[in-house]
Amino acid sequence: MVRSLAVVILLVIFLLPGCAVKKERTPAPVTMSFISQQMNNTLKEQQDPTKIPRTVLSDGSLRTVNIYNWASGFFAGNLWYMYGLTGNAKWKEEAMKWTEALDTIQYFSGHHDVGFMINCSYGNGLEIGGIDRYEQIIVQAAVSLSKRYNEKVGAIKSWDYNKSWDGETEWFYPVIIDNMMNLELLFKASEISGDPRYYHIAVRHAETTMANHYRDDFSSYHVVDYDSITGKVNDRATAQGFTDNSSWARGQAWGIYGFVMTYRFTKDRRYLEFAEKIAQYILKHQNLPDDKVPYWDYQAGEAGLKPEWDYDPELFKTIPRDVSAAAITASALYELGRYSGKAYRKAADEILQSLLSDKYLARDNPYFILDHSVGSIPHGVEIDVPIVFADYYFLEALYRKHRY
Ligand code: GLY
Repeated sequence: MVRSLAVVILLVIFLLPGCAVKKERTPAPVTMSFISQQMNNTLKEQQDPTKIPRTVLSDGSLRTVNIYNWASGFFAGNLWYMYGLTGNAKWKEEAMKWTEALDTIQYFSGHHDVGFMINCSYGNGLEIGGIDRYEQIIVQAAVSLSKRYNEKVGAIKSWDYNKSWDGETEWFYPVIIDNMMNLELLFKASEISGDPRYYHIAVRHAETTMANHYRDDFSSYHVVDYDSITGKVNDRATAQGFTDNSSWARGQAWGIYGFVMTYRFTKDRRYLEFAEKIAQYILKHQNLPDDKVPYWDYQAGEAGLKPEWDYDPELFKTIPRDVSAAAITASALYELGRYSGKAYRKAADEILQSLLSDKYLARDNPYFILDHSVGSIPHGVEIDVPIVFADYYFLEALYRKHRY
């Protein structure tokens, strides 16, 4: 009797605290039901996995892109996160179909985005789907991406030769802040293959980015152009932000995500501290709205700033938000919260809560989860629309919230 009482007391002591901290493994049914409905609509509308949903046209119909578009891996990634969030084998089957349509991208070196394309699709297929044969595709993609690396510059070339907005400045070796995201593929390829070369390239790229892409306040330039012979910086500018010296919101989001991820693979605290500084820049910015969904550029429309591109002040009577920047930031903050404390997780929760409100859910469109993102305002494309990569990082943030 006394022994069984002791056993009960011990069980209560050891099991109850565990129950108290047990995390919800899945988002609320009402959330999942809306997300599933949107994803199912898209799958019904577009069954050809080489025509990949990206956004909507002005009449609300689905706009698809081919496999070479930088955003081609996100839809497959969304399906992997659906599988991860629900465990429903139907999503896995679809995810494999949309992932494997990207097979030839493993040999593609036409721009730096092969990291996004393969990691969001095959990378998640390996991690969430447990499909081991995707490992060799990840390694081959890293071989392709590495062809764009120059040791003298210490960075991967994002785009080939290009011109800036003034039409006069030429970029010979442009590296954009977005490129930090491609390092994840390289780190994984080194882990899989045991070949340290990809790890080396990733670390060198992160170092070069830390040295040259950031201002003293930890905001980032968008484009840094290098001289490929001397490795020196030729130009610092923007392609998608308001001005060369402003802070394009998605660029800040790519940066924080990229440096937290680099810490995950290297355990070098300098990257973690750098990510914390970028997080502080974002979260304490005077122009960040209370709901923590940023305007598309932190200085957009600010008096006294004059963009190089053809600027129509009429466009700035209402400054568009960029929900994609908020979703990327939320996902990064969940990871930062694991290493640097609860305040970052709380900020991520707040962003997610905003995104789950009727203000940002794509209630008017059948195909996407979130509305109100921006592709590129200077190019005049995809302004205040749903966009596949906003959904991707939103689903990743949901997944991380319920797993971390
Ligand atoms: N990486 C392209 C973009 O963020 O628009």
